[in-house]
Amino acid sequence: ARVALGSRNLILVGLMGAGKSAIGRMTASRLGIPFIDTDAEIERVSRMTISELFAAYGEEEFRALETRVIKRLLKSGPRVVSTGGGAFINERTRRQIKRGGLSIWLRAELDILWERVNKRDTRPLLKTENPRQTLENLMNARYPVYADADLTVQSRDVRKEVIVNEVLA
Ligand code: S3P
Repeated sequence: ARVALGSRNLILVGLMGAGKSAIGRMTASRLGIPFIDTDAEIERVSRMTISELFAAYGEEEFRALETRVIKRLLKSGPRVVSTGGGAFINERTRRQIKRGGLSIWLRAELDILWERVNKRDTRPLLKTENPRQTLENLMNARYPVYADADLTVQSRDVRKEVIVNEVLA
């Protein structure tokens, strides 16, 4: 798989709770290449948490920073890169991702996403009256866009190894 990837990056896209970071980390270690999570990188360069960034500057500024960080990250490879859920939805960022490597949509059903994000409330977009409904609305709006990724892998609630094997295959 490493040979096939060459210097290209493997970029995971999809909604929050799909397992991009966990699957990405495990995939990278199986391939023996570095793993990078774009949200973590944004937090590192800004020295703020994602929630703090949203609160202080709003979503638009966050997206601008996200675009810059992802553009820089994708300049070298190979790496496994997990992106924030909105990255692929942003047109500029999506173009960078499409150019920067092989994109894989980790696709999951609402119940699974909800179960995973419900445990932690770090997602500013879900600080609403009815976060489950918000998540469902995001699914409906975004799934047609994620479908533009190069490949789709189902992220079901099974052992991570099974999903990683599908990504590698
Ligand atoms: C977002 C998803 C988050 C983070 C930010 C916005 C989104 O990343 O980038 O809260 O627009 O879906 P995760 O998908 O890693 O939770």
